[in-house]
Amino acid sequence: MPIVSAEKFVQAAREGGYAVGGFNTNNLEWTQSILRAAQAKNTPVLIQTSMGAAKYMGGYKLCKDLITDLVDSMGITVPVAIHLDHGDYDAAMECIKVGYSSLMFDGSHLPIEENLKKAKEVIDLAHSKGISVECEVGTIGGEEDGIIGDGELAPIDDAVAMAKLGVDFLAAGIGNIHGPYPADWKGLHIDHLTKINEALMAAMGHKVPIVLHGGSGIPDDQIREAIANGVAKVNVNTECQLAFCKAQREYVHEFDANEAEYMKEKLFDPRKFLKKGFDAITESVEERIDVFGSANKA
Ligand code: 13P
Repeated sequence: MPIVSAEKFVQAAREGGYAVGGFNTNNLEWTQSILRAAQAKNTPVLIQTSMGAAKYMGGYKLCKDLITDLVDSMGITVPVAIHLDHGDYDAAMECIKVGYSSLMFDGSHLPIEENLKKAKEVIDLAHSKGISVECEVGTIGGEEDGIIGDGELAPIDDAVAMAKLGVDFLAAGIGNIHGPYPADWKGLHIDHLTKINEALMAAMGHKVPIVLHGGSGIPDDQIREAIANGVAKVNVNTECQLAFCKAQREYVHEFDANEAEYMKEKLFDPRKFLKKGFDAITESVEERIDVFGSANKA
């Protein structure tokens, strides 16, 4: 299966009452881990790079080539979209140029008129090249300068205005935040999601897929309820990072306890030294796919 844009499989998820995963990648092995899980679970998947991850990895072209070549060399047959996560206008333009198959333009920090104006430009250009587009209204909170903000509720009129521009899937805050959730987090506002959905249905006459950002650490029953009420893409980053970190820390302890033997077996080779961490990512992605309900929907 070649790399594909995401609008068809995200819309199919919306119609079918399940969600696909948008999994952030951070390097080569991370990408392999996600692809392995998607193939094992026979699910469509978005592999996404934030602007920071793309910079870390060597740029958008490298990310696009890396994912494309891995899909080929690993014999991946499930649909894979190469997606930009939280891109600004310049990043969106760059990803259109280098051939990402999907992108998120995030103008949520701009006044709504400007967000809509720029979003329209991005959507029109991306669609003319067969690239799917996600945009955001309101702001999805998270940790900033050590302060964890409450998740915001996206203004419903803004969601409708963005949908009318022809966006393929829409990120709208319903109390979700990026990163770990604080102990006193109030949970997802499913009532607000329902209102957004009803307004979108009334304005568009069809089901608009909603994207749930900050998918790590939300209790599974709340994720399932959100999916039943219109969420068709769930973004996950922190959960994979934590799984990697936990498994790697355990391995370091194991290594220390058996140092002479492990050194003799050359387990310091990064291909072996990092294996447990990356296997943990695959496990974590597979487990999320089961909760999202997209297994065997490829
Ligand atoms: P988490 O890191 O909280 O999973 O959020 C990921 C995300 O929403 C990326 O856009």
